[in-house]
Amino acid sequence: MKGDPLTSGFEQVFGGAPDAVADAPGRVNLLGEHTDYNDGFVLPIAISQRTRVAMRRRSAPGFALHAQGQGDTVHFAFDAPPGQHFASYVYGCLVLARSRGADIPGLQIHVDSDVPMGVGLSSSAALEVATLRCLRQLLGLSFDDVAVAQLAQRAEIEHAGVNCGIMDQMASSLADTSRALLLDTRSLERRMVDLPRGTAVLVIDSGVARTLAGSGYNERRAQCEEAARLLGVASLREVDDVQRLASLPPLLQRRARHVVTENARVLQAVACSTGRAFGELMNASHASLRDDYEVSTPELDLLVSLLQQQPAVHGARLTGAGFGGACVALCEAGGLQQAAANVVAQYNAAGHRGQVLVPPVAP
Ligand code: GLA
Repeated sequence: MKGDPLTSGFEQVFGGAPDAVADAPGRVNLLGEHTDYNDGFVLPIAISQRTRVAMRRRSAPGFALHAQGQGDTVHFAFDAPPGQHFASYVYGCLVLARSRGADIPGLQIHVDSDVPMGVGLSSSAALEVATLRCLRQLLGLSFDDVAVAQLAQRAEIEHAGVNCGIMDQMASSLADTSRALLLDTRSLERRMVDLPRGTAVLVIDSGVARTLAGSGYNERRAQCEEAARLLGVASLREVDDVQRLASLPPLLQRRARHVVTENARVLQAVACSTGRAFGELMNASHASLRDDYEVSTPELDLLVSLLQQQPAVHGARLTGAGFGGACVALCEAGGLQQAAANVVAQYNAAGHRGQVLVPPVAP
């Protein structure tokens, strides 16, 4: 492990080698946005950026957590939660693992990550999954990858204040970078799906920050639950015909229409053999997120339309919760770099600060 930046970072801060190290990737969602908390379908793929966690037992109780590049080491204990937001994800994982019977000793914990934060690429899920994997390894816990994702989701809901679905944590725990993960969030049935031949994924950040907990995310979820209640179904997943939404008040009807049509788009996309057909579904998803779900912004709309004008781009849309953050596009692999350069130049000429996040640019 010598020479590894995570291990040497740990040694610099804590003065010795870690007992366990683990990592987990961020993810980008290709289709199926705001469907997971409606028991629906999602289609994320892992990105190559990862969060790495190292841990060592210590004799004193409590936890010392150091995040590379974040300055001070944070100290907390089970009965004294940390004040720092990023530390609450780690704290939540420790609490949840203990609630499942893990006997957790005092720990020194070191985190480093190149997953972009606050842009919709699931840096929080990567931190949660990497923390739980590291604990699993350190303590020989028997949680499987699905249990890790479920604990990570509960940590986020109960300790970071976001009433999220299970997509991000399942993607971080189970997806890889070569194929997308088709996940039924109701049954957790899943399978890996090849991207259409000759295509590659491009992600560009809009430069407009987004904080999930502070956004309308929880409000959208409550609106979907209200729509399901009025329709007499357990979740909007039960509805597959938009005609059934006619009795809803106009706002709830639009929210529910996004969910119903988005689930259908995911199922169509996995049957698509061409990038063009897949891309059209992404374009339709963006229009639905913008007009019916109202989670886009003028900057995201501009970035998406610039992407859609590129001949090498099959389709593009905002990705993640919205309200800022990044856009994802499916491109012809050979034309991706040129399309990315064109779009960033045009977008930034309009006074913005866009940048390519996937494929990652070498430092
Ligand atoms: C966030 C949440 C996910 C999902 C997406 C929107 O990433 O954490 O559970 O709801 O937003 O699709």
